[in-house]
Amino acid sequence: MNIEIDKSTLSWDEWDELHDPRPEETGFDRVVERAMTRRGFLGNLVVLGSGAAVMGTGLLSSGSARAQEAASRFAFTPIAAQTDATVHVPEGYSWQPLVKWGDPLFSGVDPLSQETGISLEASDKVFGENTDGMELFVVGNRQLIAVNHEYVNTKVNLPHRADGMPANADEVRILQNMQGVTVMEVAEGPDGWAVVIDSPYNRRIHHNTPMRISGPAAGHDLMKTEADPEGVLALGTLNNCGSGKTPWGTYLTCEENFNGYFGSTDASFERPEGFARYGIGLEGRYRYEQFDPRFDISMNPNEPNRHGWVVEIDPADPGSTPVKRTALGRFKHENAACALARDGRVVVYMGDDERGEFMYKFVSSGIYVPGGDTSGLLDDGQLYVARFNDDGTGEWVALTPEATGMSAEEILIFSRTAGSRVNATTMDRPEWVAVNPVAVEGYCCLTNNTRRGVRANAGGDWTPASGPNPRAENGYGQIVRWYPEADDHAASGFTWDLYVMAGNPAVHSDAYAGSENINEGNMFNSPDGMMFDSTGLVWIQTDGDDSNEGDFAGQGNNQMLAGDPATGRIERFLTGPSGSEVTGLTWSADRRTMFVGIQHPDAPFPDGDGALPRSTVVAVKRDDNALVG
Ligand code: FEO
Ligand code: CA
Ligand code: CA
Repeated sequence: MNIEIDKSTLSWDEWDELHDPRPEETGFDRVVERAMTRRGFLGNLVVLGSGAAVMGTGLLSSGSARAQEAASRFAFTPIAAQTDATVHVPEGYSWQPLVKWGDPLFSGVDPLSQETGISLEASDKVFGENTDGMELFVVGNRQLIAVNHEYVNTKVNLPHRADGMPANADEVRILQNMQGVTVMEVAEGPDGWAVVIDSPYNRRIHHNTPMRISGPAAGHDLMKTEADPEGVLALGTLNNCGSGKTPWGTYLTCEENFNGYFGSTDASFERPEGFARYGIGLEGRYRYEQFDPRFDISMNPNEPNRHGWVVEIDPADPGSTPVKRTALGRFKHENAACALARDGRVVVYMGDDERGEFMYKFVSSGIYVPGGDTSGLLDDGQLYVARFNDDGTGEWVALTPEATGMSAEEILIFSRTAGSRVNATTMDRPEWVAVNPVAVEGYCCLTNNTRRGVRANAGGDWTPASGPNPRAENGYGQIVRWYPEADDHAASGFTWDLYVMAGNPAVHSDAYAGSENINEGNMFNSPDGMMFDSTGLVWIQTDGDDSNEGDFAGQGNNQMLAGDPATGRIERFLTGPSGSEVTGLTWSADRRTMFVGIQHPDAPFPDGDGALPRSTVVAVKRDDNALVG
């Protein structure tokens, strides 16, 4: 039987595995903790520091003053799982759309048409598709939101193409313009929040926007192309996933599945070394390579090296050129969480979201001085990769030429290879990292890894179930937390524990039930987006299986939950419409509104019956206008 795959429905990981199957593991790695009881399993996990988090709800049942204080931290009544086509928030809260895919940022621009999509002329002047990471900036008396547009659903962007694929250069350009980043001014009026049309700060950054390449890899031979013989000026930022905000008020946008945009018009083209590790193959997901030679690796084999970076954007200067910061390494960047070391150096934590890839940290050489020159802080420093030990300790291993046998530039351009050379810990798909603003600790969502214990990563590193990735064939995910030695984010040593292991206690009674702070009332799968509010609550967004069946029965649509780091308690705050991922979170300057991203709903959200499903940023407020974080 000939089974046709609809490739447009594949996840990025499935796409990569289709083209470059990962080696299968053998033998005892597949023997997992299925036989262990939930409590017995958790007994093997380290519980450290202030947290005791993996036992969270147990603590809360004590009725102690601490438990009551913890309970009062949640200023909402948790909501039930939902399976319908809209957003739900707790009683006493309301939501409204702020901006939807295809909404004009400027006057005189045609909005999205349900029948014909978006015109080429309008495509770089409207809010892009697939909203993702976002941050709010206060500039004078204005509020600006910078927000990512991760990828496109081609069938809705090109509704006249039955296969959803572009058939000419103009259609490729439309897709290119619908992705990237939007910077927009927002304001709250009597009818709620809206984009300030024609604000001088409104700006679209997309796949053809000029970007400066900076840092140690700028100008390296591997970064040079025919169009840019100096290797210092790239076009475009690709697959902008999570975000970050620097202490000096700039936006960090993170290039994740950049590999999927490249292909080859020459089917016999032999891929250069290093391409397979990053999943750069002969077939692009959107046919860019057929109509835009820049994305044809047989013509421009170095072009992919110019993507997969963290890009810094100054939202306060609409004429500024975004900067690709090569010192932060090249991989499938999820987000970039900034912290300051005790001596003022800048620390950026980052995850590489692919099965069995690594977690990284950059520490600047210079220190941050408020009001000082920050233009080179992210260009000069040391990149580290995380190694977790089973005993609850770990270290950030410096990726140096001595340790890796690679040149300083190669370490940055091929960071994955450098991590493998120093035996970094293969992780269950590191998604967002978040740093607690009221305690010296970091968190990373390890979203899931159904290949844990089954397949090696793309570099051939085995992925045994151990340490912070304790469950084989892990469909639920977990959140790892680390405590830097001496309370210093620059330290190389740390201890770690698991803040939560997601699971389903209604279906399983072993480790797949999740940790003790998971119950049938708050369960979820696939933690992904994560952000702390100013009070130190951690907000967790999910991008997982929303079938509500089997292993995921009772978990409903993707959702956003709030967690208390001190007790481990987690409660559900918001549910998204069916098919959607909840991703991206930021707050208004007065902290009375939270902005939440709803990406790729499959239902006609938010406009209802008959309308196209549209990725949307929603504004959530308390009805009494009290603070929300
Ligand atoms: Fe774009 Fe890993 O999420
Ligand atoms: Ca994500
Ligand atoms: Ca995800």
